[in-house]
Amino acid sequence: MTKVVAANWKMHHGPKAARQFFQRFRPEVDSRAVRILFFPPDLSLAASIGAVEGSAGSGAPVEFGVQNLHWEASGAFTGETSAEIARDAGATLALVGHSERRHVFGETDEETGRKVAAAVRAGLVPVVCVGERLEERRAGRLREVLARQLGAVAEALPAASGADAAGFIVAYEPVWAIGTGETATPGDAADAHAIVRDVLRDAVGDGAETVPVLYGGSVGPRNAAALMSAPGVDGVLVGGASLDPASFAEIVEAACQAAAH
Ligand code: PGA
Repeated sequence: MTKVVAANWKMHHGPKAARQFFQRFRPEVDSRAVRILFFPPDLSLAASIGAVEGSAGSGAPVEFGVQNLHWEASGAFTGETSAEIARDAGATLALVGHSERRHVFGETDEETGRKVAAAVRAGLVPVVCVGERLEERRAGRLREVLARQLGAVAEALPAASGADAAGFIVAYEPVWAIGTGETATPGDAADAHAIVRDVLRDAVGDGAETVPVLYGGSVGPRNAAALMSAPGVDGVLVGGASLDPASFAEIVEAACQAAAH
């Protein structure tokens, strides 16, 4: 299966830094083996797209998305961006339900569902983030948490026109591994991904088989190859290690090797 490698820049890299990144980002890859996705801050989206379009022979094609969106198409929602506006600005994907949205900004499962539906409505591919907190894992509640988070997404999907299971991506990101330097072992990741796939089958039926399931949480050049070789891991969502073009290129190259096996 084609591997998916996604960069979540969070609140880093303004337009100038984004342009500099793409001047230096030169992975050596077979673009049929890997999909490369970038989620820059909204204000850096145009500069990022422009930098990629303007740099001849920069290697693999890349796709862009936003890190968050509002579920309404437009309206009096100061400070928010809709899926339609993101699409108009050149995004083709949207991260939804990232753990920082859920746990720092208090986003609920229901809101995550509405955002997924909004993304699908506007023709964006939602990259839905799910994952358990440490206390939930310790209490043996991993499956329950994933089922609840993915269930809310599945419930929202039929309401969105043109919803289709193949049109979304899931990122499994254990909250305790994000930005902490603690990574799930490839075995832990494989176990959790098997649960995600199982829960997806219950939630969306046969279409579940084609949904790429990425792993995220302290992925870097040292552990990317092992994680992407774990059963059921279709790619990675990378935060900190995606900010440096050389380190992110190494992860993309690791994905190509994993895809070849
Ligand atoms: P990290 O972030 O790679 O810095 O742990 C991952 C994420 O939040 O998506």
